[in-house]
Amino acid sequence: MTSNIRPLAVVTGASSGIGYELARQCVAHGYDLVIAADEPSVHDAAETLRGEGATVDVLQADLSTVAGVDQLYGRLAGRRVEALLANAGHGLGGAFLDQDFDEVRHVIDTNITGTIRLLQKVGRDMRANGSGRILITGSIAGYIPGTFQAVYNGTKAFVDSFSFALRAELKDSGVTVTCLMPGATETNFFARADMLDTAVGQADKDDPADVAKTGFDAMLRGDGDIVSGWKNTLQTALASVTPSGLLAEQHRKMAEPGSGSKSQG
Ligand SMILES: NC(=O)c1ccc[n+]([C@@H]2O[C@H](COP(=O)([O-])OP(=O)(O)OC[C@H]3O[C@@H](n4cnc5c(N)ncnc54)[C@H](OP(=O)(O)O)[C@@H]3O)[C@@H](O)[C@H]2O)c1
Repeated sequence: MTSNIRPLAVVTGASSGIGYELARQCVAHGYDLVIAADEPSVHDAAETLRGEGATVDVLQADLSTVAGVDQLYGRLAGRRVEALLANAGHGLGGAFLDQDFDEVRHVIDTNITGTIRLLQKVGRDMRANGSGRILITGSIAGYIPGTFQAVYNGTKAFVDSFSFALRAELKDSGVTVTCLMPGATETNFFARADMLDTAVGQADKDDPADVAKTGFDAMLRGDGDIVSGWKNTLQTALASVTPSGLLAEQHRKMAEPGSGSKSQG
């Protein structure tokens, strides 16, 4: 007799962009959801996702904090999590020496500290269950020194590397770990990072729905990593054989404040 209990997926950063599209993929594949983000718009996303047929538990919390992550874990209340999509993250454009250090910390604590705290908590349960799928949203930025986005690219270098190591540690445990590495994608990311006056902020970008589908399918296959789109795959391959100094100069052209042609007046 088939159980009609829908598997449970947890998606962080599901209020917009790639995370929202990942949550939609989960619903389309029969998952119920626990979603989290730090702005009230996460409740609107939950409503829309419920409209697509899932039971959605929603939490508005700052996942850069231990309290926020523990609140999300507490919301799981011992339910069996079949898929964890650790996607919440944000950037911060500009010269590092000119940045506010609280904002720098918030990028590190969201993209790294909060993300791995949740991965450790839910990952332990999945290992004990002997099954589970983890998708971590890294970035091709992790392969490139991020001139004028130095801290952000550094956090994604951590996330990309960490995901491969966790995957290897969980080999034969029944738990798979997949790292999704998007390139520039059309989301709120560049506005939030205050990078709309940059060349990359103004360039054509990938569709978050396509990026999410690429990542979700790779998670279902149990792949180790996936770079979304052939252009990004080529860029990542080139980055791995290009001197870092040259990569840093190339990144300056993309991310330097004012490098965009269109004025933001
Ligand atoms: N867009 C790109 O070009 C690109 C490329 C490579 C990788 N990525 C990665 O993709 C992921 C999703 O970003 P996106 O492009 O889809 O941008 P987005 O539309 O701005 O989505 C970011 C999501 O993360 C949430 N979030 C950020 N900081 C949070 C915090 N401290 N606590 C709780 N939620 C938080 C946001 O919630 P609120 O809106 O409520 O703040 C939002 O739901 C990020 O990890 C990003 O680094 C993006």
